[in-house]
Amino acid sequence: MSSPITQAQVESKYRQYHAKINEALAACFPKEKPATLYDPARYILEGKGKRIRPFLTLLAAEAVSGKSDNALGVALGIEVLHNFTLMHDDIMDQADLRHGRPTVHKQWNVNAAILSGDMMIAYAYELALKAISSRHAEIIHIFNDANITICEGQALDMELEQRKDVTIADYLDMISKKTGRLISAALEAGGVAGDGTPEQIAALVTFGEKIGRAFQIQDDYLDIMAGDGKSGKVPGGDVINGKKTWLLLRSLELAEGADRELLQSIFDNNGTSPDNVPAVKAIFEKCGVLNETRAKINEDTEAALAALDALPFEEGRGYLRGFANILMKRDF
Ligand code: IPE
Ligand code: IPE
Ligand code: MG
Ligand code: MG
Ligand code: MG
Repeated sequence: MSSPITQAQVESKYRQYHAKINEALAACFPKEKPATLYDPARYILEGKGKRIRPFLTLLAAEAVSGKSDNALGVALGIEVLHNFTLMHDDIMDQADLRHGRPTVHKQWNVNAAILSGDMMIAYAYELALKAISSRHAEIIHIFNDANITICEGQALDMELEQRKDVTIADYLDMISKKTGRLISAALEAGGVAGDGTPEQIAALVTFGEKIGRAFQIQDDYLDIMAGDGKSGKVPGGDVINGKKTWLLLRSLELAEGADRELLQSIFDNNGTSPDNVPAVKAIFEKCGVLNETRAKINEDTEAALAALDALPFEEGRGYLRGFANILMKRDF
């Protein structure tokens, strides 16, 4: 038996693939005109994206087939699709900052962000079709299902902002759709590009759904808790927008007195002024919700790891396991 993959090996592969993905993404949108269409696509893709989804696509292909060359186009397609969702998400969230820079609708305007995002969807499919495979229809179905499910999740995200009867179950359902599905689709499409069996692909999807949910809970955590400038977004944007996150819902149950009143007013008014962000951060630190959040992320990650046993390539499994552990502890 070969020795287990170390965290240092996972980190090294992530660095190497990150560079390879960035290099390939830089060549995806060569057209110059109309500049207001293509410049925003290049701009968002040259930002500091973590490239988590395309990395997972490549690892999934390796876990079912031992290699990933044929999955690169699919990986790029997933990343382009993801960046389209970011561009439109920033309009919906009225976010001014992403990757530490003005968002596309701030740098250009809302129409440019809508149209450039629309164009990126079509490019994402073209990239995915670069895989040499007899299973193109399956890949397209996965992209379609992911795209539709993200739209459902984003619609629910907007609905929850306004609703007063939101439960933690509603929140978990919403994040599975807006975030979990694209992460599971990244793995699923990688598995298909690697010609995996239905059983292997089902295991990749389960793994993706669980880490995907943990990933969004962590995103919500970092939205307010990330160190200075590290998220590259407006700090506390979710609190300002009155997002019904796990943190807000659960701390409403845990906090007391004036703390609880402040949280309740954010809940009732569907948001608050940026001036209240430091106070909310302090309440989260005090009421115990942060420990519970960590436990929830760990629990989802453990459940994800259990799904990996069905995959045939031990080395590929080792990298997926190692990367899930990195994501679980991420502060970026
Ligand atoms: C941000 O995703 C949107 C979410 C679904 C949480 P990432 O945190 O993966 O964004 P980038 O690509 O690294 O900027
Ligand atoms: C993102 O959720 C979901 C998407 C489908 C893009 P967020 O709205 O929390 O993502 P960020 O924090 O802006 O990246
Ligand atoms: Mg957002
Ligand atoms: Mg959003
Ligand atoms: Mg967020």
